[in-house]
This record gives sequence, C-alpha cells and structure tokens, in this order.
Amino acid sequence: KRVAILISGGGSNMIRLVEDMQADDHPARPVLVASNNPAAGGLAKAAALGVPTAAVDHRAYQGDRAAFEAALLGPLLEARPDIICLAGFMRILTPAFIDRFKGRMINIHPSLLPKYPGLHTHARALEAGDAEAGATVHEVTTDLDAGPILGQARVPVQPGDTPETLAARVLQREHQLYPLILRRFAAGARERFDI
Ligand code: GRF
Repeated sequence: KRVAILISGGGSNMIRLVEDMQADDHPARPVLVASNNPAAGGLAKAAALGVPTAAVDHRAYQGDRAAFEAALLGPLLEARPDIICLAGFMRILTPAFIDRFKGRMINIHPSLLPKYPGLHTHARALEAGDAEAGATVHEVTTDLDAGPILGQARVPVQPGDTPETLAARVLQREHQLYPLILRRFAAGARERFDI
C-alpha cells in the first residue's frame, strides 16, 4: 500500500510512521510527505528519510480552502496514495476533499474521543479534572474528529500536570499507537485496537 502523510509542524508522528514502514514485513510504504507549511520541520526530516516531499502554503490562498486543496491535490494525486495519514496536520479539510479519500484517510487526535474534539485538548482535560487522557486514531469523515475509532492509547493524568507535561506523555503514546494502527489499516483491519 502507498501512504501519503500530511503534516503541519515537526512531524514526530510522521517520523515514527515512516521508520516503521522501513520494516520488510510492513504492508505499506511512504510515497509522499506534504505540508501546508513550507517551514514545517518535518519536511526536512522526511527528505532525510528518503521520502518525497511537497509544500503548499495555505497562506497563499487567503482562506480559500478549496483553492488550497486543489493545489495540494496536485502532488498528492501524483503520488497515487492508497492511504492518507494526517499527522499533526492543522488544517480543516472540506467535505469534497474528504469524500475523495473516503475510507482511506486516518488521523491522530490528542484526546480520548469523543471527549475533546478540536483544539487545546490537554488543557480541557486538566480543566475537567480527568484522571486519564490519551490519543485516538480514527477514520476521517466530514464530522471533525468524529469518524470511526481505530484505536486509542490512555495515559494517567498526574498531580501537577500542565498542558505541556500531559502533551508530552500523550505524544509518547501517539508514537506507539499510530504505527500499530497504520499497519493494521494497511492490512485491511478495521476493528478497534486499543493499547
Ligand atoms: C501534537 O500535539 C500531537 O498530539 C498531534 O499533533 C501535534 C504535533 O504532532 N497529533 P507531530 O509531532 O507534528 O506529529
């Protein structure tokens, strides 16, 4: 299976996915890492790992989502991906774009969905006094952060946690969860698998 990964920043999840796909027994391989942010640190890391990259600056389209996506579709379709992984990708995609990759696009979100869709998930979990937090990999549908859940990883919230300390703990678990779920998804598994 051919996998394209969309990032917006450092790409720590993308790196783990690409490194895991270097294993001979992996059913998928990376064909593109693309970003809406030409300065995304993950682009250089992807290139260093031998993965073709593309950058389409969303700021060049002044909030015209469809125009940005049309530009992104160029390199994306050229890579002929079977699967698209959103990994720290911070742009909301239009229903038209999502429908184009229906059933073949997955995302990692730093909360135990359905709790805390959207932003600032760790601050909200701390604010609510939750004993646990975590990350979710889900299929991308037109409802933001609400597609079928493919797997979750949980972490304890500890006394004195800040959004930053909690984010760091969750991120470690994201790095375990996402490669596992991509392996399963690429092999055709769709049932939920929590770690
Ligand atoms: C992190 O907050 C992570 O929880 C979320 O996206 C952000 C950046 O991830 N998935 P990455 O390091 O760019 O993969």
